[in-house]
Amino acid sequence: MCNVQKIDQVDMGQVKELVENYKNQKWSLIPLVQQLQEELGFIPPETVPVIAGALGLFPSEVQGVISFYAQLYTEPRGKNVVRVCRGTACHVRGGKTILKLVKQQLGLEEGETTEDLEYTLETVACIGVCALAPTMVVGSNVYGNMNPKKVGQLFKKDGGRHDEKP
Ligand code: FES
Repeated sequence: MCNVQKIDQVDMGQVKELVENYKNQKWSLIPLVQQLQEELGFIPPETVPVIAGALGLFPSEVQGVISFYAQLYTEPRGKNVVRVCRGTACHVRGGKTILKLVKQQLGLEEGETTEDLEYTLETVACIGVCALAPTMVVGSNVYGNMNPKKVGQLFKKDGGRHDEKP
């Protein structure tokens, strides 16, 4: 299940140090939040007032930008982002079952992250390799012609291998 880190888990000293490099540079909001996300893995909501204060912006302005970009995350994400295709080609070739099995294997619903921050589960409209339907992606690896056995192999408890095609 997704777990939002608490303020005491976020190194605010690190955040303040990073934000200091951008002090009073309103234009640098996007590079700043991108760097923050790179360092922490997400943008903790607690950092919004700190960012706003340093750049001379309203917290609502900072929040507005963070909310606008789908690539900016306000919750922790897994080390491996799992994306199951729910496009038409995959759907007609059993994509729904693949998604169901992945959910079972990881114990997650869409948009959730495992407590050990190993996996985040998402769905996508099309991965772009419809000929290999049903498909899914783990990290930067694309897996095609998925079936229940392959799903099981991918998420073995011994830390399924994501560097090879199953
Ligand atoms: S519909 Fe699934 S890869 Fe295109």
